[in-house]
Amino acid sequence: MSGFSSSPVLRAVRMSRSFGDGAQRRFALKDVSVDLYPGQLALLMGPSGSGKSTLLAVLSGLLPPDSGQVLAEDEGRTVDVWAMSDTQREQFRLRHTGFIFQGYNLFPALSARQQLEIVLKWGVGVGDAEARRRSDEMLDRLGLDGQKSKKPAQLSGGEKQRVAIGRALVKNPTFIFADEPTSALDWENGRIVLELLRAAAHARRASIFVVSHDDRMKPYADVIYHLDEGRLEVELNPVPLAPAPSHQEGSR
Ligand SMILES: Nc1ncnc2c1ncn2[C@@H]1O[C@H](COP(=O)(O)OP(=O)(O)OP(=O)(O)O)[C@@H](O)[C@H]1O
Ligand SMILES: [Mg+2]
Repeated sequence: MSGFSSSPVLRAVRMSRSFGDGAQRRFALKDVSVDLYPGQLALLMGPSGSGKSTLLAVLSGLLPPDSGQVLAEDEGRTVDVWAMSDTQREQFRLRHTGFIFQGYNLFPALSARQQLEIVLKWGVGVGDAEARRRSDEMLDRLGLDGQKSKKPAQLSGGEKQRVAIGRALVKNPTFIFADEPTSALDWENGRIVLELLRAAAHARRASIFVVSHDDRMKPYADVIYHLDEGRLEVELNPVPLAPAPSHQEGSR
């Protein structure tokens, strides 16, 4: 499938974020701007501690920046994610974003199936039967058909990771933020996850922002960013996103 819409659905504008006070203050993000497009899978690479998880958290409405903006397209309107009230931002996150955390963040008391069902029922307002059907279908696609009734403590690391992926994808969000989603998976399961993410981008025009250290992920990406000590660069852009603006020389 080819071609991106020429207008981004999420724009981060000159964001900075620090941690600590006074002499201890360290910038995890330095003046970072990035545009996410519908139908695009963007890969974010960079060394440990370079700010990747921080960038995902700021973009997705989980962690406020010190300065800068995150602008999202929401049903024809441009909304400023960090100018919303906490309640509005929470609603926006529940309706539009799926987040796969580096540490999975599963609910210890819920089974694999319930982790997905709860998102559909309480986040999106889907009825019980439909929530169950969609949760089961997603878990099947992730190779978890035998694990649906197990709680996180009874699942392997890779199984927990796949449940976390299912939970992020099951509501068909506009934005998917994935922090090292294949780190605990063998190549075959990793490939299934990448195909699911790519299908979400290309079939539903979702915007996917994936953190990974894994070079095998590069062929799946439409654009690759590199973060180093809080500064973002486009490392490789194999697909042109939009025609370059034509600069018209005005007469003086
Ligand atoms: N809550 C916090 N309090 C203080 N410092 C923090 C906090 N969160 C992140 N940092 C610091 O910000 C920097 C960036 O952290 P971040 O987690 O974004 O890195 P990362 O690129 O995701 O690393 P990794 O590949 O190891 O996951 C690091 O120096 C980290 O120690
Ligand atoms: Mg991280």
